Amino acid sequence: MSGFGNEFATEDPRCPGALPQGQNNPKKCPYDLYAEQLSGSAFTCPRETNKRSWLYRIRPSVLHEPFKRLEEKTLITHKWEEDHPNPNQMRWHPFDFPDKNESVDFVQGLKTVCGAGEPKARHGVCIYIYTCNKSMENKCLYNSDGDFLIVPQQGTLLVTTEFGKMRVDQNEICVIQQGMRFNIEVEGDSRGYVLEVFDGHFTLPNLGPIGANGLANPRDFETPVAWYEDRDVASYEVISKYQGHLFIACQKHSPFDVVAWHGNYAPYKYNLSNFVTVNTVSVDHMDPSIFTVLTCQSLRPGVAIADFVIFPPRWGVADKTFRPPYYHRNCMSEFMGLIHGSYEAKEEGFRPGGCTLHSMMTPHGPDADCFEKASNAELKPQRVADNTMAFMFESSLSMAITPWGNQNKVDDKYFTCWQPLKKHFNGAIKRSSSQLTNGMSKVERTC
Ligand SMILES: [Fe+2]
Repeated sequence: MSGFGNEFATEDPRCPGALPQGQNNPKKCPYDLYAEQLSGSAFTCPRETNKRSWLYRIRPSVLHEPFKRLEEKTLITHKWEEDHPNPNQMRWHPFDFPDKNESVDFVQGLKTVCGAGEPKARHGVCIYIYTCNKSMENKCLYNSDGDFLIVPQQGTLLVTTEFGKMRVDQNEICVIQQGMRFNIEVEGDSRGYVLEVFDGHFTLPNLGPIGANGLANPRDFETPVAWYEDRDVASYEVISKYQGHLFIACQKHSPFDVVAWHGNYAPYKYNLSNFVTVNTVSVDHMDPSIFTVLTCQSLRPGVAIADFVIFPPRWGVADKTFRPPYYHRNCMSEFMGLIHGSYEAKEEGFRPGGCTLHSMMTPHGPDADCFEKASNAELKPQRVADNTMAFMFESSLSMAITPWGNQNKVDDKYFTCWQPLKKHFNGAIKRSSSQLTNGMSKVERTC
């Protein structure tokens, strides 16, 4: 079903009429299903931010044994004080897949790289890498702490949710919000990035003077239709990520037993190739906010807990302009990943499946090679980023790197990409004392 944030209504075609009409919670539901509401916002949120769905299911989700701490070792963490802060520019080589003789599913392969904030206070952000090679078997995960935005870099994800199924290929993303149970099947080595926000849900950015259309258009977001299985098993593991820890509860049936649902709180996917890019047609390099796909806003107007930004294939036509990204320092944290191709500002060293982090106020920009090329390039209309998709998770929070992030695949030589930057200042400045007026010197270039 298409459309961002719509009020959807869907029934598995095997059970027509499964949705009650005229009310949400009848004395007896059609097909003797249980009615269950999943709230994604406070009951009293204003209409424009109120999120909830009604699920009509074979058994209510309360039917499980008590949760216990998951004893398996996990690299999911929100402990931000374990390593000393590090303001350096960081780059990671592509992360390794599990060994061939190891079986690792999506949950087991999730590793926190960096983040900030606290799920108990519902404020913060967490960035993960996942690497896995096995489907989750009789196992689902739900996140009590926030929403997941998943960016597959290699390997298709077959995502089964309580709301239905989604196939998420490379160059697509999906969002699975707080509380939704999901299972991920993979076909071989799979790798990608996950952004988690604790504060609220992702929305489409306001378009301002751009107008009513452009960037990620609402109709290009897709939500699954209802699908259920009536499957009893000896033990089905329900994993809850709760206050940054994993818990497990067993039940004797599949949780994907929702025959019909309606509401505006549902998972969705988006194909990044549908992004309608806007950019300058005169001069200068625009700020990357023009490439925002989704944003999770803070309470401060215009300030994001996290933006999901992409750098899609497009035309570069700016006149009199250094066309790559400008050198800069930012009051936001910038985590970048590469899905495929090569990123224009750093063609060497930043590879698909790797990432970079430019922390708050840490300077960064094009490497020396890129600067030389772009400063001397003949400016004709030119394709940029063909066959490439880089992205950024940009956050107003100052992120800490975990011990796992500091110890795995770190490129210690990253800083050297800027070291060949030369002084180009072309020298002779003639100051004429006769031109001094009111203490100001008039400066004139001689060459
Ligand atoms: Fe930047």
